[in-house]
Amino acid sequence: MAPADVTADHPHAPRSDAELWLLLGTGLSGRRIFGELTAAFDQAFGHRYTVVSTEDLLLGVQGGRLTLHDLTGRPLNAPKVAYARLSSPRVSTDREITVLRHLRAMGTDLLNPVEAVLACVNKFWQLQQLAVAGLPVPDTRSYADAPLSEVLRAGVPEPCVVKAVRGQRGQQVFLAPDAALLHAIHGNLRPDTPYLFQRYVAHSHGRDLRVVVVDGQAVAAQIRTAHNGDMRSNLAQGGTADLCLGRYPAGETLAIQAAKALGLGVAGIDLLFEQDGSFTICEVNVNVGWRERMTKVTPAIVTACQTRLDTHT
Ligand SMILES: Nc1ncnc2c1ncn2[C@@H]1O[C@H](COP(=O)(O)OP(=O)(O)O)[C@@H](O)[C@H]1O
Ligand SMILES: [Mg+2]
Repeated sequence: MAPADVTADHPHAPRSDAELWLLLGTGLSGRRIFGELTAAFDQAFGHRYTVVSTEDLLLGVQGGRLTLHDLTGRPLNAPKVAYARLSSPRVSTDREITVLRHLRAMGTDLLNPVEAVLACVNKFWQLQQLAVAGLPVPDTRSYADAPLSEVLRAGVPEPCVVKAVRGQRGQQVFLAPDAALLHAIHGNLRPDTPYLFQRYVAHSHGRDLRVVVVDGQAVAAQIRTAHNGDMRSNLAQGGTADLCLGRYPAGETLAIQAAKALGLGVAGIDLLFEQDGSFTICEVNVNVGWRERMTKVTPAIVTACQTRLDTHT
């Protein structure tokens, strides 16, 4: 047992009997969005909720039952409901996913369930699910163990958008004008992660529609426009954004369908503009960020948590 005064070293020790957790992955506690969420959760849930960092959590099996403790050794009840914000580049099956599995096994209702999180951290997993759900995605080729040279020889779209199956912020995405270029440079592609080779949606070059969906409702949308002729419209690559909620109802409907197909309570969907005015799904993000001016997102997440608390048995 831990000594009684050990909590003095852990000023942020979580409440042990909270019904609702805001579960935070490493490196996210300093962000504006965290501040926005905790202020709203404080107001809506008071002592019924607590912030728990994955860094402060011990998982166990004791006497055949699953347990949770904080680092002071205090046992924690599993919450009824949890909203996990994790850093997508870090999500690993042996760490973050293990925590989510543990909570699920203890009966916690996760806003973004384990399978949905997994599908979002691999760009091909999500395409598999979206395609099976009958939703529009770009034609794409990927592989498991085939050598890259053989994958290219077997044929890829031309021009071709190349993406590592794990990647964010546009960092692992580029446009190859033809297969010859890919043949020439494939030795420089990192071998540790598979790639996908995707139809280039030329009409959407440097532009996409990002929609934030919470529990089946579009609560924010923005058009992102790339910098300097780049294909990638990510803000992290210098893109700019205009809020546009309500301007593209068909895009918002598609984003809602995509979130539903993956089983996500909170999602950010990137959509590509097609020439005929329709949309194609580019990517679904689980750990979506939003800007201060997107004022409907946080209240929608509060409502999503409240709804689950009300219905949890
Ligand atoms: N198939 C495509 N055709 C045209 N543009 C694309 C395509 N795929 C991605 N893009 C552009 O590249 C950006 C980054 O791609 P995305 O798949 O969202 O990866 P990331 O996870 O790095 O954001 C998109 O926001 C979009 O602007
Ligand atoms: Mg993206």
